[in-house]
Amino acid sequence: MLRFKSLLPYKITNFYSTIRCGSIQSTYLETYIEKKLENINPFPYDFIDRILITEDEIKERVNTLAKQITSDYQNSEHLLLLGLLRGSVVFITDLMRKIERPITMDFMSVSSYNKAQSSGFVRIDSDHKTNIHGWDVILIDDIVDSGYTLSTISKLLLDRRPHSLKICALLDKPERHKVHIKIDYLGFSIPDYFVVGYGLDYDEKGRNLPYIASINLHKHKD
Ligand code: PRP
Repeated sequence: MLRFKSLLPYKITNFYSTIRCGSIQSTYLETYIEKKLENINPFPYDFIDRILITEDEIKERVNTLAKQITSDYQNSEHLLLLGLLRGSVVFITDLMRKIERPITMDFMSVSSYNKAQSSGFVRIDSDHKTNIHGWDVILIDDIVDSGYTLSTISKLLLDRRPHSLKICALLDKPERHKVHIKIDYLGFSIPDYFVVGYGLDYDEKGRNLPYIASINLHKHKD
């Protein structure tokens, strides 16, 4: 565990301390307290439990990742950010605007067969348009769960002979990995909580939240 921790660029250690220790943004905190006092749900969705990663924390981490990428690709004139739809959209659009290099952006739409059973079969619903032969490709996703999606898509992309291929993910749940996956640029490593926001959804809801929040299904009323 110690060895593993040292590999993580950023570790969220205690989500439950987030609100208590006051690291949450004051605007959210004020709204949260006001609405709690009025006995109103402080969040726009009833299934949200608490904020795990604030908008400011995300912004700061995205800036750091963009700086690393800018520095690592100083000599690249063919840098492609390749996002996996739909979860990566918010992350990739923020990240790309902070990268100070010429870039091209493209997307693939993929889905897992039988996700509940983590079968590992990934279907390509829509492929990228760019011919990636000779390009420096950064494959971008919102979250690594089992790892099947990024592992399968990376193998497929390598067959298309890019000059280089790296993986960038906003969130990683290492406890859930079913396959080995090397994440070159990682936002946050998180425990096995169901999370929404900043592109991630619960039943297609919550992608518009500017923060990452955990959900409590018992709170959810259909
Ligand atoms: C999610 C997420 C990743 C994938 C991760 O996609 O965006 O692409 O699952 O899971 P894995 O590591 O177990 O493969 P989802 O199918 O929910 O689609 P979405 O991007 O449209 O939300």
